[in-house]
Amino acid sequence: TAQQIEFLRESIKTIPDYPKPGILFRDVTSMLEDPKAYALSIELLVERYRNTGVTKVVGTEARGFLFGAPVALALGVGFVPVRKPGKLPRATLSESYELEYGTDTLEIHQDAIQPGDNVLVIDDLLATGGTIEATVKLIRRLGGVVTDAAFIIDLPELGGEARLTAQGINCYSLVD
Ligand code: PRP
Ligand code: HPA
Repeated sequence: TAQQIEFLRESIKTIPDYPKPGILFRDVTSMLEDPKAYALSIELLVERYRNTGVTKVVGTEARGFLFGAPVALALGVGFVPVRKPGKLPRATLSESYELEYGTDTLEIHQDAIQPGDNVLVIDDLLATGGTIEATVKLIRRLGGVVTDAAFIIDLPELGGEARLTAQGINCYSLVD
């Protein structure tokens, strides 16, 4: 309901000038500190994706783990972490993506996704979409099918949704 979304919105603190002057940082950790808000955020995502044929949930380090793992448990499917380089012990695939300055790399275990898996991608926040675009590429290189990505927060002015839509991804966010 609109009331539930408003409750979630109010649980997210906004920090001015972090990490740089002029940036308004939306801090999802304040939502985690309120068990009613955290539980509601998970329930709303689980309601939306229950009985949709999802076979795996992928979450991206670090904050994506906080939402992806509980959703996977509630849906009764496996959780697969996408991690920063050098953290995963088995054979991995890597994907690099552009940041404002420089590049970043993400990795996935090669045997964590089977061809034909229907993968739901979850992260805390959608900004430029670079993180999730790279995550989707990793999943697709392993033969996983990705049609949907879900977020707690979207920052619409940063254009992430258009970027992901161009990759065939439907984006859903609880708050923007
Ligand atoms: C943040 C956030 C998303 C990503 C969004 O993660 O949790 O994963 O940035 O930005 P984008 O849409 O422009 O790619 P960050 O890289 O700060 O890592 P963390 O979760 O480990 O703090
Ligand atoms: N909050 C959290 N993570 C972010 C933000 C933000 O406002 N912008 C880019 N990544």
